[in-house]
Amino acid sequence: MRIIEVKDYQQMSKRAAEYIINKVVQNPSIKLGLATGGTPIGTYKSLIEDHQKNGTSYQKVTTFNLDEYIGLSSDNKNSYRYFMNDHLFNYIDINKAKTNIPSGIAPDFQEECHRYEDIISRHGGIDLQILGIGSNGHIGFNEPGTSFGSKTHIVNLAPSTIQANARFFSRIEEVPTKAITMGISTILKSKEILLLISGEKKKDALCRLLNGKINESFPASVLKNHPCVTIIADKVAIADL
Ligand code: GLP
Repeated sequence: MRIIEVKDYQQMSKRAAEYIINKVVQNPSIKLGLATGGTPIGTYKSLIEDHQKNGTSYQKVTTFNLDEYIGLSSDNKNSYRYFMNDHLFNYIDINKAKTNIPSGIAPDFQEECHRYEDIISRHGGIDLQILGIGSNGHIGFNEPGTSFGSKTHIVNLAPSTIQANARFFSRIEEVPTKAITMGISTILKSKEILLLISGEKKKDALCRLLNGKINESFPASVLKNHPCVTIIADKVAIADL
């Protein structure tokens, strides 16, 4: 794993956006894996600024998001589909038909998991996956204990994840308790991974990722098995290493 240390959240976002833009310019039909949460918001903002200023085009890009809450439809402000439209897709020239996010309201969730896994494969897999990390080491919504062999599946969210994500909702009771997420093996199949880590709350996770063993009790540790991972982390997150 290659680590790029940057000053702060703003620099992380700028650096990550440059990284992504460079890949999009090299391969306009790139398949991008995208993440939600607070971490990538600044990166998406920088992508929009670049699109408006320099005209980088996303017309041929296909995207696959990591996950979605079960029970939230696309017009719910807390759904990840709404998040992606609101933080990125509405402001760049991407073809929304080429943006894929698991459905949180599918009639049959097992079927939806198969469909999602299948659509990624049919596109030849993800070229560059953007990832954040949960403080318990989750990637996507793969909580501690998830099998490294897992494909897209339904998960029960850990109480710590519900607590951490409650900041986006008006009341903690509104946070869904289940989600649909790409599995660990789905994520690991990406040709390249860009992991973004910022802030005090992620310090322990980064330390455990770099110094701990590869173990299902800490899902992100599996990234050490991947041949092409770049971490962009800010000084606060990196402090104790
Ligand atoms: C969420 C998302 C993850 C994200 C993580 C960290 O639950 N499912 O994809 O990486 O938690 O979120 P944040 O960036 O807000 O700290």
